[in-house]
Amino acid sequence: MNTGGGDAPGLNAVIRSVVLSAINQGWEVFGIERGYDGLLAGDGVVRLDRSSVEGITHLGGTILGTTNRGNPLAWPRPLPDGSVEVADRSDEVLAAFRDRGLNALVAIGGDGSLHIASQLSDRGLPVVGVPKTIDNDLAATQVTFGFHTAVQTATDAIDKLHSTARSHERIMVVELMGRHTGWIALFAGISGSADVILIPEIPFRWDSLAESIRAKYERGPAYAVVVVAEGASPEGEDEPVTSSSHLGRGARYHGMGERVADELFRLTGFESRNLVLGHLQRGGQPTAYDRLLALRFGAAAVDLVARGKFGCMVALAPSEILAVPLKEAIATLKVVPRDGDVVTTARQLGISFGD
Ligand code: F6P
Repeated sequence: MNTGGGDAPGLNAVIRSVVLSAINQGWEVFGIERGYDGLLAGDGVVRLDRSSVEGITHLGGTILGTTNRGNPLAWPRPLPDGSVEVADRSDEVLAAFRDRGLNALVAIGGDGSLHIASQLSDRGLPVVGVPKTIDNDLAATQVTFGFHTAVQTATDAIDKLHSTARSHERIMVVELMGRHTGWIALFAGISGSADVILIPEIPFRWDSLAESIRAKYERGPAYAVVVVAEGASPEGEDEPVTSSSHLGRGARYHGMGERVADELFRLTGFESRNLVLGHLQRGGQPTAYDRLLALRFGAAAVDLVARGKFGCMVALAPSEILAVPLKEAIATLKVVPRDGDVVTTARQLGISFGD
């Protein structure tokens, strides 16, 4: 098992769930530290037993460590002349995996890590994916773990900005994570009663943005809260990418919140301030929702391994708000399914129902 990409609240819960569920199958479990680095360097493959995962469900971060620079299929190697060569080390990953006598990999990660897992699967690695990212940008699952906690953290911050914005009659801009998608900004912005939400999916126009702020001041109370996803951009402009200074690391995004605050002051004359919430959104204890989802994903991943369903990712089935006829709605009572995955997860974690 490994964790890759940016950390997210709930990673440790998945790790615990995978370890306990696998041990309950009679298997041995090993954790690869720092993505694939621990395997490639040969110094980071650790045996995980019950005691290694005791008391970690509620902890943020990952006990295995993570990296968003360690793509074994595009491994950057600095050359003596200062240039960088990109190497494919997938054969080394497969060889190290076999040499250690490992039979299956549970890869916990977001978009980038699951791309790596998919390519390694194509090359013969028996892998099962678990969807992680606070950005919630994986289409195949209704939700990724970590997202709910990040939205809660962001909503708490927005709540707090209202009182200071109102006291000073200011525009408070808060920049939230979300490079290509605006899920955190959208959910937290709505929940936190923002006046404006800017997301990458909806390019904005400076004039209509300023107009909506003026209208809010006229309507009163005279202040505004503006939520900006880090990847949001004005119509006709590219995403606000700042290239990375770290070898092997993809582009980073920042600065749009500050720009929005400055421009709004210039266009409206209302004083503005900017807050970048940044990595606070990735930290802290996972909410109960994320813990449960992470534990369910972990147990389900072990189930897929047991059934030999490699090259797959566990996912929560999509659900929409629908119109349900009242008669249908009251026809049956919704009881806890005895064999549903939540009860099964609890059992796999060793929780008793007294039956
Ligand atoms: O976890 C995803 C994400 O939070 C993005 O929204 C953000 O741009 C990125 O990670 C930042 O990652 P880091 O600063 O760790 O490279």
